[in-house]
Amino acid sequence: PVLVVDFGAQYAQLIARRVREAHIYSEVIPHTATAAEIEAKNPVALVLSGGPASVYAEDAPSLDPAVFELGLPMFGICYGFQTMARALGGEVSQTGNREYGRTDVTVTGGALHAGLPEAHPVWMSHGDAVTAAPAGFEVTATSAGAPVAAFECAERRMAGVQYHPEVLHSPHGQQVLSRFLTEVAGLEPSWTAANIAEQLIESVREQIGEGRAICGLSGGVDSAVAAALVQRAIGDRLTCVFVDHGLLRAGEREQVETDFASAIGAPLITLDDSEVFLGHLADVTDPETKRKIIGREFIRSFERAVAQALELQGQGTGSGAGSAGAAAGADADSAAGADSASAGSSASAGSVDFLVQGTLYPDVVESGGGAGTATIKSHHNVGGLPDDVEFTLVEPLRLLFKDEVRAVGRELGLPESIVGRHPFPGPGLGIRIVGAVDRERLDTLRAADAIVREEMTAAGLDNSVWQCPVVLLADVRSVGVQGDGRTYGHPIVLRPVSSEDAMTADWTRVPYETLALISNRITNEVPDVNRVVLDITSKPPGTIEWE
Ligand code: XMP
Repeated sequence: PVLVVDFGAQYAQLIARRVREAHIYSEVIPHTATAAEIEAKNPVALVLSGGPASVYAEDAPSLDPAVFELGLPMFGICYGFQTMARALGGEVSQTGNREYGRTDVTVTGGALHAGLPEAHPVWMSHGDAVTAAPAGFEVTATSAGAPVAAFECAERRMAGVQYHPEVLHSPHGQQVLSRFLTEVAGLEPSWTAANIAEQLIESVREQIGEGRAICGLSGGVDSAVAAALVQRAIGDRLTCVFVDHGLLRAGEREQVETDFASAIGAPLITLDDSEVFLGHLADVTDPETKRKIIGREFIRSFERAVAQALELQGQGTGSGAGSAGAAAGADADSAAGADSASAGSSASAGSVDFLVQGTLYPDVVESGGGAGTATIKSHHNVGGLPDDVEFTLVEPLRLLFKDEVRAVGRELGLPESIVGRHPFPGPGLGIRIVGAVDRERLDTLRAADAIVREEMTAAGLDNSVWQCPVVLLADVRSVGVQGDGRTYGHPIVLRPVSSEDAMTADWTRVPYETLALISNRITNEVPDVNRVVLDITSKPPGTIEWE
């Protein structure tokens, strides 16, 4: 891999994603990694990320000096650029000349900026500046505040830039990063959807061996792609389970039972466990508690599904798997719940050992799985799992970003109606009702949500909006007037966001006409809702979901 050395800035993951967009696999490692640890990962190049600090600060994060002697191609960004300059014998000064935001650089030569306009805008964020490039390095760009805005040394396959090529505000940044990877480092862009799919299928095959697996479908892209990968790896030893926890949106269950099952090619069991989930959620208002309960009950549902899965897998051999699967899904549905447990007594429960999860790289990081990052929310498919899970987790997407998941899905032949879907959280509408969850509130939210989705699609906004959670403030009431009467109803919050990976997001400027239409329809058509409000908070500081 290309290793992105994380100096503690929020940009390391973004850089990793940009490297992958250049079709080269990359991972993030902490700056505390030693040269030996880095070598052990067989890197093909290093990228030093930006950092929050000045290289002069007392606790400035540093890198094992031996790393610079590994002979690896290296690209420094911002703080990483300065670290590199210092380590290689250049000069970094506290010029007192801060540059922040849009800045023009002037290109003076070199391979990185070849073909770009001589003067072009980039995104800067620095106080210190490199004032002399290391010996043997050519200065290839300058700016008003950075006499050395970029340098490179073809012989050592090293280069760096003071600005942030990874952010969208540097319009040519991706090109510069790509040129480093291919022209300076000489790497072959081979991280393509086809190769990713092939590698993931192979590693799933290795992990599961001759074992059996079940995969919970949530109705989202991630679990569908994860299931499809595992299906390609182990065939009819995979059974999909769809838990109707009563927290679904309108039409979701039907869609999973038809489109998803046939696209994935594995038999599907639907469990109608809404009674169970809603029972446990009654009167629970704390978001983390809700998440934990839903995570726990998912696992309990899956455990109940094992017996059914085993029976199905026994039957699946020989006859046409596709049609048998669809029929079995319908059957299982009517026989769901308590019955399934007793049905299991004849089969050897526990011989489905693997549980497939659609966990993504950002989930892993946000649930505290990344080095030194705080737990922000326990996403049910990672941190919310109970301790006594009896399954071994299979997480084929654990290192992927959302756009890669979609690309892999397309590669596996999943239709656009699945891979193009907006993200929807596993805990469903349960974390979109602020307050306790009950059937009536769920019906209210479902009705509002359906209207929002309908109007957003009709307005052609599905591609510009990353997702639009619709939230019911069940514990808030406000006074309204409808007809001649006073109302005292609940507000619905619209949370349209634009994002690339859900790690950061901005609120989407949805056209007023669409908002007006949505507001009118919701207040007219959904009983108990007398106000529609728009969430105009970016992430950070807000998260995308309200809970
Ligand atoms: P937040 O609210 O953390 O959401 O900004 C980031 C993205 O993750 C989705 N999300 C979840 N997905 N299980 C999931 O599978 C979860 O528990 C969960 N919580 C949030 C959210 O919809 C957004 O796309």
